[in-house]
Amino acid sequence: VTTLDAHLAGGRGPDAADLADLVRALAAAGVTIADELARAALIGQLGTTGDTNVQGEKVKKLDVWANDVVVAALDATGRACTLVSEEMEEIRHRPERCAGGRFAVCFDPVDGSSNLDVNGIVGTIFSVLPRRGAGADHARADALQPGTAQVAAGYIMYGPSTLLMLTTGDGVHGFTLDRAQGVWIRTHTNVRIPARGRTYSINDGNFTRWPDGVRGFVEHIRAIDVASGRPYTARYAGSLVMDVHRTLLEGGIYLYPEDAAGSGKQSTGKLRLMYECSPMGMLVESAGGAASTGRARVRELAPTSPHQRVPLLIGSLEDVRLAEEFYAARRA
Ligand code: AHG
Ligand code: MN
Ligand code: MN
Repeated sequence: VTTLDAHLAGGRGPDAADLADLVRALAAAGVTIADELARAALIGQLGTTGDTNVQGEKVKKLDVWANDVVVAALDATGRACTLVSEEMEEIRHRPERCAGGRFAVCFDPVDGSSNLDVNGIVGTIFSVLPRRGAGADHARADALQPGTAQVAAGYIMYGPSTLLMLTTGDGVHGFTLDRAQGVWIRTHTNVRIPARGRTYSINDGNFTRWPDGVRGFVEHIRAIDVASGRPYTARYAGSLVMDVHRTLLEGGIYLYPEDAAGSGKQSTGKLRLMYECSPMGMLVESAGGAASTGRARVRELAPTSPHQRVPLLIGSLEDVRLAEEFYAARRA
């Protein structure tokens, strides 16, 4: 049996111990959040606060509560002086913490919030970046780095069990929370995503706004061709953590494209680069898959703002490459 602590103790490199502090803090926040989710209906923690956030979305009580839990856990480590969160409009920078804080952390405290009120699966996503240090625009330089700079990424999935999926650049590993003991046990070692899957995941309600490449691709994978394993089957939970987790383990593709020009309001896609797409991209790539905007590798995008949205096509290498061909109109 390998615990999360034992796994982290095996980390190499000069930053391994500090990184382990951060991961332990995030995992501890996950235990607290899992407990709160389990009893939310009993203690009046479901529903909205009445506020609307910077993204124009109704804020749920648990979004705000979980944000505070993650911030407090990270602050207590003294290892991160720059934080980016879905629930914080500005980059949060605490210069007095920079002495020991060699990292910036970006996170989505509760991903899949629309599932909260229906007892559906939600998660916490995180991305760890090395701090860039000095300069007038210190906080922005720390936070706004491409996903290729990440030193760790992961998510905690609050499902029938609470599961932490993590990469620190050395493969993807999963840890299931043993609630009785209060420890995380490694249950998934060196996860590899199948080169190709048989499942696709996309919000079909956006059909009329999909770009042509996505329409063509989805039509293709829905078409019957027994020899090539088509049609694919559809799964969509509306929770990125759930949808990417299934894709990571079983293969296939998840898509959240931009709206076609002139057809809607999400012309750059919906999902956020810093705390949704980049960390999921690192995890899936580390497992042998791919993460693309349809036209470019997600992790190579240079962010310009903390809440920037980008299109996301993520999953099995062959499925993502095929979708890119439809985007490029090499296939129709
Ligand atoms: P969040 O709850 O953190 O705002 O994220 C919601 C995201 C993501 O979890 C999910 O995959 C996607 O939004 C679902 O969007 P649609 O409801 O538009 O399908
Ligand atoms: Mn989210
Ligand atoms: Mn969220």
